[in-house]
This record gives sequence, structure tokens and C-alpha cells, in this order.
Amino acid sequence: MAVSVVNDLRESDRAYHLHPFTDHADMHKSGTHVVHSGEGIYVVDETGKKLLDGLAGLWCVNVGYGCKEIIEAVTTQMTRLAFYPSFFNSTTEPAIMLSERLAQLAPARLNRTFFSNSGSEANETALKTIRAYYKLRGEEARHKIISRKFAYHGVTMASASLTGLANCHGAFNLPLPGYYHAPAPYPYFENSDMDEESYGKWCIEETERLILAEDPKTIAAIFAEPIQGAGGVIVPPPGYLQALRQLARKYNLLFVADEVITGFGRLGDWFASSLFELDPDIMTLAKGITSGYLPMGATMVSDEIAEVLIKGGNFAHGFTYSGHPTVAAAALANLDYISKHNLIEHVKNEVGPYFQQKLWALKDHAAVGNVRGYGLIGALELVPAGGRAAIVPNSYIGIPAANLCREEGVIVRGIRDAIAMSPPLVITRDEIDIMFSGIERALDRFLAG
Ligand SMILES: Cc1ncc(COP(=O)(O)O)c(C=O)c1O
Repeated sequence: MAVSVVNDLRESDRAYHLHPFTDHADMHKSGTHVVHSGEGIYVVDETGKKLLDGLAGLWCVNVGYGCKEIIEAVTTQMTRLAFYPSFFNSTTEPAIMLSERLAQLAPARLNRTFFSNSGSEANETALKTIRAYYKLRGEEARHKIISRKFAYHGVTMASASLTGLANCHGAFNLPLPGYYHAPAPYPYFENSDMDEESYGKWCIEETERLILAEDPKTIAAIFAEPIQGAGGVIVPPPGYLQALRQLARKYNLLFVADEVITGFGRLGDWFASSLFELDPDIMTLAKGITSGYLPMGATMVSDEIAEVLIKGGNFAHGFTYSGHPTVAAAALANLDYISKHNLIEHVKNEVGPYFQQKLWALKDHAAVGNVRGYGLIGALELVPAGGRAAIVPNSYIGIPAANLCREEGVIVRGIRDAIAMSPPLVITRDEIDIMFSGIERALDRFLAG
């Protein structure tokens, strides 16, 4: 792009555009990044610089950029029927086909899907479904919801209440009443001297104490991301997720797996719920369902829940674009692409283990205090030159470190004092090498100050 065009765009951006999750004053000081095009795992920015997208957009462009099959499926569907709703007694072929396809892929009891436009809406839909379900069963007393600290479940009033991050609550006087946050299996943040497994067990005990303190008969559900993503890539120790699931069963609480990031191959399986045998009652999906080509959220419910809802008559919930045919066509083409190119196996056997090897190889780098990862997701918790003791609370060194990575040609995400990565699933070993050498150069520069 010509410099004058970039300057005009930045000026218009400053004048008219409010960005999500952005400190605008800070951004306008340094200038907006305008990403212009993408191909495979790379994007090209306003200066013509090619950047390896180590975050897959926002943990979502699983098949990489420029996937012809999705573009063609969208074009064909738009030409035939760009939009028709699924309200009342109508629907469209792609929405039907996609719901059938999801039932085939998902854990056994999840066969019905309610579509929406985002992960937040998928969780909002789960919350309303749970309310309706208990009301129909005459159990309205069950209204409280448990999620975890550092959880990220979205930004609508209720999904933000599920989210366990203070910055998503403070400005909005959230969480709403009835939302409780149990500890997350994140011993590094808490500076705990327990090992990871003992800390995980302690988290489960605390969660059980919370359930008992609040009276189990008043609790409706536990929501959990199998690996907490935006909260800092928090990977639980072995046994923790199964114990959390078991806790829900013990007290008859519904268990909701938020697979907005973990779904569609990131961990080397279609879903983390299958990988870790979580047998959720509800699973929420978005992002990788279309590889981000078009917006979609999905809430899959168990046969038991579906039967109660279906018997209950009219379900007055839904979005104009629930099951949007063009978006559903994009999702179907995306799922076909993942299957045809064996991307699940590619992550499980090939690039996932290699990515982890390269990630853990940075464990002894002087800028790295902690390493976490699984499959094609990972985080490096950073420490400054003076070591962990030199960290200034709320200084968020992950952000400048992510900026250095970008200068070195790799996009990662700064989260508090960590940098996080989740590249497109189509990444190769050679590209993983390129990615980690860029990150390592950035970490060296970060330490040098
Ligand atoms: C686990 C999880 N749930 C829900 C959401 C919210 O999705 P959206 O931004 O599409 O509303 C996100 C977004 O990052 C997420 O990571």
C-alpha cells in the first residue's frame, strides 16, 4: 500500500473506528496495523511486510488463509441463496447438513445444534438453554453457574459474567449475581509451591467447597474450557478435567465444555471433549467451525436436554442469522477441508508434537519463567532480565514482547506477562522452525532491553 493510502486509512481509523479490546489512546500513538492480505499461514501488512500468523487470526484460522474450497462454497451458496432464516418452520439445506455433520463428529450424546454468530452467543445460548431446561423440569431453584478464574467465555452480559477476568468485569459492574468463579489450575500465577498435580487436586477440592457452600441444589452448571485460552493458555494437569467432570456428575450439575478454541483440531482431535473423554452435556463452538472465514457460533446439547426442550414447545430464542446458509456452507467446506487434508492427524502426530518440542526447548531461555502447551497451542510466561522478582505487577511484559515478535516477523499474542501462540493447523515443521526462531530472536532482544 502507498504510504499516503496507509496514512489516510490510519486517519479514518482514528476518526471513526472503535476497536474491540483496545486501548485507543495507546494505539493511536503508535499507529494502527492494517492487515491487507493472507495466504496459508502468512498475512501481509500495510507496509508489505509478510508476517507468520502464529495466532491464526484470533485462535481461529485453522485451515490458513486463502482456502479456495471455502471461497468457492461461499460463492456457490451466495449465488443460489445468500440468506434465508431458520426461524419458525423454515430452514436451508446447508444448516441441516451442518447440524448432521456436527452430530457425527461430536461426542456420542451431543446430537442437536443451535446456531448463533459467535462464541459469546454460543455460551449465552447455553445459559438460556440451561435455564429453560430446568424450568421445564420444575427445578427453577437451580440457577447458579460456576466457571473458573482466568476463564474466557465471551463478552455479552451473561457470557462476560462467566468469564473470569477482572478487566472484563470492572468497567461493567459484572459479574451478574449468581455467577461464581472457582480457582483455575494455574499454580505459576499464584506463585504456589505445590506441584501442578497437587495444585490441580486443590482446585477440585476448592470447587467442591464452593458447590457445598452455595448449596448444590441451587447450582445449574459448571462451564469450563478444557484448556483455558485467552486467560493465558492454562493447561490442566492430568486427571484435573476428569475430576471436574466427575464433580459435576456427583452433584447433578450440567457440565458445559466451551470448545470455542479447542474444537476442530487444535489439540489433535476434533474436540477436547473426545480427547479427554469429558462427555459434556453441552458443548459450545465457534472460531474453527468456519476457520474464521465467516462468523458462526454453535451450541450442541445432549439428547436428554434436547428431548426436554422439544417437548417443552416454543423455544423463543434465536438470532436472525442462526444457521445462516452461506456461513453454514463455509463451515461444511471447512470441515471437508480438515478431513480431506487429515489435519487432525497432522496436528496429533506431526506438527503438534514438533510444536511442543520447539516450545519446551525455550524452557531454559533466561526470559522464560514457565512453559505451557498442548497440540498446537502454547504459551511462554516471561520474566525480565532481573528474573521473576523484577516483574512489576500489572506491567504486562507480554505486550512489548509480542511487539518484538511482530518486528521479528511472527504474530503472537501478549497476555499479561506471557506470549501465546496457536498457529493455523496447516503449518509445517519448517514453518514451525521459522516461527520459533523469530520468537527466540525477539526474546533475546526483550532481555537485552
Ligand atoms: C473459549 C472461548 N469462548 C468464547 C469466546 C468468545 O467468542 P467470540 O469472541 O466469538 O464471542 C472465546 C473468544 O476468544 C473463547 O476463546
